[in-house]
Amino acid sequence: MPALQLLPYALFLTALLASSAAGHAAASLRAHLTHVDSGRGFTKHQLLRRMAARSLARIDSRCPAPGRGANAHPVTAPVSRGTVGIENMQSEYLVHFGIGTPRPQRVALTLDTGSDFVWTQCFCQVCFPQPFPAINISASGTIHGVSCSDPVCSQGGLALSGCTARDNICFYTYFYGDNSITTGQIVEDTFTFQQAPNDGKVAAVPKLRFGCGMFNTGLFGSNESGIAGFGRGPLSLPSQLKVGGFSYCFTNIVESRTSPVFLGTPDDLQAQATGPIQSTPFARGPDSTKYYLSLKGITVGKTRLPFNASTFAFKGDGSGGTMIDSGLSITKFPRAVFLSIVEEFKAQVPLPSDMVAGMLCFSAPHKKKAPAMPKMTLHLEDADWDLPRENYVLDLDGGDGDDDGTCVVIHAAGESGMTGIGNFQQQNTHVVYDLESNKLVFVPARCDKL
Ligand SMILES: *[C@@H]1O[C@H](CO)[C@@H](O)[C@H](O)[C@H]1NC(C)=O
Ligand SMILES: *[C@@H]1O[C@H](CO)[C@@H](O)[C@H](O)[C@H]1NC(C)=O
Ligand SMILES: *[C@@H]1O[C@H](CO)[C@@H](O)[C@H](O)[C@H]1NC(C)=O
Repeated sequence: MPALQLLPYALFLTALLASSAAGHAAASLRAHLTHVDSGRGFTKHQLLRRMAARSLARIDSRCPAPGRGANAHPVTAPVSRGTVGIENMQSEYLVHFGIGTPRPQRVALTLDTGSDFVWTQCFCQVCFPQPFPAINISASGTIHGVSCSDPVCSQGGLALSGCTARDNICFYTYFYGDNSITTGQIVEDTFTFQQAPNDGKVAAVPKLRFGCGMFNTGLFGSNESGIAGFGRGPLSLPSQLKVGGFSYCFTNIVESRTSPVFLGTPDDLQAQATGPIQSTPFARGPDSTKYYLSLKGITVGKTRLPFNASTFAFKGDGSGGTMIDSGLSITKFPRAVFLSIVEEFKAQVPLPSDMVAGMLCFSAPHKKKAPAMPKMTLHLEDADWDLPRENYVLDLDGGDGDDDGTCVVIHAAGESGMTGIGNFQQQNTHVVYDLESNKLVFVPARCDKL
């Protein structure tokens, strides 16, 4: 671990005596989310292509490079096993909150339900560019390093952690499936969120652990300063906050309103609901830190496609399965299912079509009127998710020399054959991860009013 020798002496952080009460109440906290492309003046056409590029990169990078597979490189295992890691760091939604006291310093972290560690750029030795300063450890009165005797250091729980015995510095290295890496020191400090309901009050939660990332390289470049893992592992943000659940409500991707994320189970799901509340149990899968679902079938228009639950379940070889993924832009289905959906849309929509960026797009001859599209329903265990039109269809508005057209925003999965429910399909839906009851609850909602 040569990087360690570079750990600067300034990182001898004074171990402050714990000042505030340990243990965090199951408070309901709030932070706001922004879509990475929001407010940047892209046309719908550009937005679609950008989403498609990110989504395809996430699929492509699933196949490990030769010699860098989970078996060849054991430290990649915790995030790449189960075939889904956060392969592409070009994130979709960034969660904003503050770290440190007395003045909380800004972080903008990718909300990632597919990983379990929280880190931000900090005391940079090798960092990627971010649009605001990285955390300045000297400016926080409450930051301190986690000691070597701490279980997080001695027993792992992370891909790789350890300590420099002489200096008592607990360090970590965290690898992602796309060969992105962060290395630094495990520290703890106060995180400052908004309190829910959104009355302007803030909630400061002391002693949360995160990676102070000093050497960070890989696929970054969406104005994030790090990653907030929301998986089920012990170091994820929800696990550390000891909340019984969390939820997010993504506003429309083509608008630029911020979206809320709630840490703590929301008590009133009827608030701002525009449709029925449904729930589906989380399914078991090969990686206990991920959020799997049981998908049983798909209907397009009035036609139930000829696939049953076994198509979407895990196969003996570890392929397949269905996962809800906050870091995936466009929902993807096993190739045979994708092709069947495409054929069904073509059969039901009497317009010329073409494949654009891996998606089926129809030419719309009359610009003024968006063409009617068949309904699309995902049949989950105990719940039928009727997707509103804007959650699987995008009407391109032409302009800038772009074509008009109407696209069905879904993709074919790569070799893993895994179904991933991405965030385009989750717009204007309050999605609750109820960890206590081990189920996903969802309700169509006016997210910008929450
Ligand atoms: C970090 O914070 C310290 C203490 O507030 C300050 O003296 C120093 O200038 C800051 N460093 C940077 C790079 O902003
Ligand atoms: C980062 O944010 C700035 C403004 O906030 C924006 O101009 C820039 O394009 C963003 N860069 C990326 C890569 O998203
Ligand atoms: C699913 O379909 C396959 C073939 O299409 C069939 O062999 C299998 O028995 C079906 N499974 C269930 C649970 O219906």
